Amino acid sequence: VSQHVLLLVEGAAPKMDSGKQISGTLILAVFTAVLGSLQYGYSLGVINAPQKVIENHYGRSLGVVSGDLASVRMESGNATEPEEIHPSVVMYWSLSVAIFSVGGMVSSFLVGFVADCRGRIKGMLAVNILAIVAGLLMALAKMGKAHIMVIAGRAVMGFYCGLSSGLVPMYIGEIAPVAYRGALGTLHQLAIVTGILISQVIGLDFLLGNDDLWPLLLGLSGAPAILQTLLLPLCPESPRYLYIKEGKEEEACKALKRFKGEYDTFKDIAEMRAEKEELMKERRMTIVGLLRSSVYRKQLFVALMMHLSQQFSGINAIFYYSTAIFQKAGVTQPVYATIGVGAINLVFTLVSVALVDRAGRRTLTLIGLAGMCLCAIVMTVGLVYLTTYAWMSIVSMAAIFLFVSFFEIGPGPIPWFIVAEIFSQGPRPAAIALAGCCNWTSNFIVGMFFQYVEALLGSYVFILFAGLLFIFTIFTYFRVPETKGKTIEEIAVIFQGKRKGSPSGAPVATELEQLKSTAEA
Ligand code: GLC
Repeated sequence: VSQHVLLLVEGAAPKMDSGKQISGTLILAVFTAVLGSLQYGYSLGVINAPQKVIENHYGRSLGVVSGDLASVRMESGNATEPEEIHPSVVMYWSLSVAIFSVGGMVSSFLVGFVADCRGRIKGMLAVNILAIVAGLLMALAKMGKAHIMVIAGRAVMGFYCGLSSGLVPMYIGEIAPVAYRGALGTLHQLAIVTGILISQVIGLDFLLGNDDLWPLLLGLSGAPAILQTLLLPLCPESPRYLYIKEGKEEEACKALKRFKGEYDTFKDIAEMRAEKEELMKERRMTIVGLLRSSVYRKQLFVALMMHLSQQFSGINAIFYYSTAIFQKAGVTQPVYATIGVGAINLVFTLVSVALVDRAGRRTLTLIGLAGMCLCAIVMTVGLVYLTTYAWMSIVSMAAIFLFVSFFEIGPGPIPWFIVAEIFSQGPRPAAIALAGCCNWTSNFIVGMFFQYVEALLGSYVFILFAGLLFIFTIFTYFRVPETKGKTIEEIAVIFQGKRKGSPSGAPVATELEQLKSTAEA
């Protein structure tokens, strides 16, 4: 082991060609993978704009509404008056929205199994069948019982997204060069927000969000899967999977060369070998095993808390209910304000791509969470005093836009890739599965209960998120270490350094540290 570690020590290793860091193949592979994330974002956002037209359709096909619900509402003459919708339409609509997260919650547990079964590429390829089936079910909704077809389609799509939102960051985390791991990892979130924005724009009623075309709008969520299916066979398998999981050194070298060009793969293979040797000292990590393991407790706590902070920051309260929130804040064209949020969301994710490998994960998460906490307080003040001072509507608007910007700087993208970063090959799939399930469950809770909590707290609802954000900021300050530019062994030292002789990471890492200090001396 020491021989391999020696090669990892800066200055102690002979200068050797480490290959191209960003090659055409790497760009193709990352682009192809994040098509799955685009699909996830599209499915998250698509259900927002066409709500009324689809409810109308449900009402008609259930035989509970003869005309157009929207015109019935108009006749009441007051847009803010509670809308009378038949309870069965409400139930089928809520189910169409919520079943997506249920699908994701269930399937996120299977990420490890799918990823390890035939590899990351074949895993992503196989699950595309689900996306295509889901797209077809929704596109053909008018040919059968629309509410059943949509609910089935959304369930299958959620199931697909639960898998892809684990597989994509895992694959990217494994193929990304250390120096660009943050930026490439953030592309998963960039594709999600792009998907959300596309769905918001083409969901406008004069484009696809109307009575004739809504099935196409929903069905298009399966389209990226077709492109991804065509491109995946051109992408190399993850060398880490090939070497560490499959023991195929020659194939791993070939994959490395496809990513980095002709170069000496010795250093990369040595790093993987060190990880594999560590892995062989521990039993294969199942989800239950990981939950019980004391070795990984700290990492797991950090990973789960980061996912909880992403969802319980309240971001999806904005994304799911922005139109209603903007209406309350006195905005006359709330749909366009919602698209504005989507655009800001995209811009600040780009800022994060540029900053994350320089400023670091911890710093950006801290700035993001603290900024969101302040914005939630300002938003509350704006909403509470809206009736007293008209200009408070501008204050609330600005607070909402800043809230989203702070989210995308850190708390949005970082949890998605940090799990692959802080866990080694053994527990990684189980950790990603657990973190994914935590993400989907908390997403479901916010989506499901926000409206009820809002009814209870009124304009003060965001104070609840401010409180949670405060707790998450403190947690990040005390517990989340910086992982920027560090190898998996070095990250293991941070979490387990004080645990001398632990079965994972620590021995190699301790040796690494000793060798480093010898080299410095
Ligand atoms: C993250 C969250 C997702 C949210 C999105 C907003 O990807 O996981 O729930 O809707 O960010 O940009």
